[in-house]
Amino acid sequence: MDPINAENFRTIWLCPDDASVVQIIDQRMLPHNYQIHDLKSWQDGVAAIKDMYVRGAPLIGATAAWSLYLAALDTKNPASEIRTAADALLKSRPTAVNLRWAVERVLATVDDTSDSNDLQVLTRCEAENICNEDIEISRGIGRHGLRLIEEIAASKNGAPVNILTHCNAGSLATINWGTATAPIYFARQQGIHVHVWVDETRPRNQGSQLTAWELAANGVPHTLIVDNAGGHLMQHGMVDLVITGTDRTTRCGDVANKIGTYLKALAAHDNDIPFYIALPSTTIDWEIRDGLTEIPIEERDPAEVTDVYGVSNSDRIHVRTTASDTPVSNYAFDVTPARLITGLITERGICAASEQGLLNLFPERRAK
Ligand code: MRU
Repeated sequence: MDPINAENFRTIWLCPDDASVVQIIDQRMLPHNYQIHDLKSWQDGVAAIKDMYVRGAPLIGATAAWSLYLAALDTKNPASEIRTAADALLKSRPTAVNLRWAVERVLATVDDTSDSNDLQVLTRCEAENICNEDIEISRGIGRHGLRLIEEIAASKNGAPVNILTHCNAGSLATINWGTATAPIYFARQQGIHVHVWVDETRPRNQGSQLTAWELAANGVPHTLIVDNAGGHLMQHGMVDLVITGTDRTTRCGDVANKIGTYLKALAAHDNDIPFYIALPSTTIDWEIRDGLTEIPIEERDPAEVTDVYGVSNSDRIHVRTTASDTPVSNYAFDVTPARLITGLITERGICAASEQGLLNLFPERRAK
């Protein structure tokens, strides 16, 4: 494995020995095993997204793009296979808008091309472009977010800047560097003393299993906390800044992110703590305005709540913690209204969580 965040670290890539195989890290096995998983068909790509071998909005989009390349390898009717794959991919996870963005982008590239060789070249190029651009976007977020951390550090006389994050909006959720973690990694490179409070993020534990793993791999001091601890830490002056990612941000700055993000925003607001969302522009849904009514919220398998997952002797195991007939609801995301968000950190700069704020950075999105 390349060291995480090294120049050549990637979360998804074309197999160097076999161009009919796309490779991913099976994130279900982390932090216990670093296992590479082969995607040999677009159906493998759909399964990897649905079952969360890969997850995180930008990486879901990239996996969808590579899955369309796998569909283009079909020997009989690649053009129709790409359309079938696109439909299935669009249904695989509903909340992260990068999925739709990536599928539409690849479809626009192939347009009405029917030559199988051309289809392979075009889909492969576009999947590669999406991945390369995502890395540059993360770097942009890192550069802009670094300023916030520098400002806080300047007032702390060398004491660590305590940053709380929720879920995994790290390298593992993107192609490299992450969104919420990019400013943290950049700060660390500048020698700024940072410490990260990592929400465990029930029920899938992306915090305890992924964020803690990648922060450790990058030598970033961090402490794991249960999801309900953040408010207490904020009340006691132990959090300087909150940065999370997002799966979909509306034109007006409402943000859908992993369930529990809204409660962190409320606690931060009550304690006057800056609450920032780090987002690639690929996560902005310019077609919608109101997050509460217009963003579809994924509901997942109740077993994620009733059971706890782990690894035993290299096997992924789960243990039920509830009575067998306990009714469960498992909403995977919630919406934080723009009014609770101090600012949005994008690859083009930091702006207010509002339509005007976003349009100042993305003027090409103004209504014509
Ligand atoms: O269900 P997941 O693990 O795909 O949810 C991921 C998140 O909520 C992330 O915070 C979000 O995608 C931002 S990733 C840069």
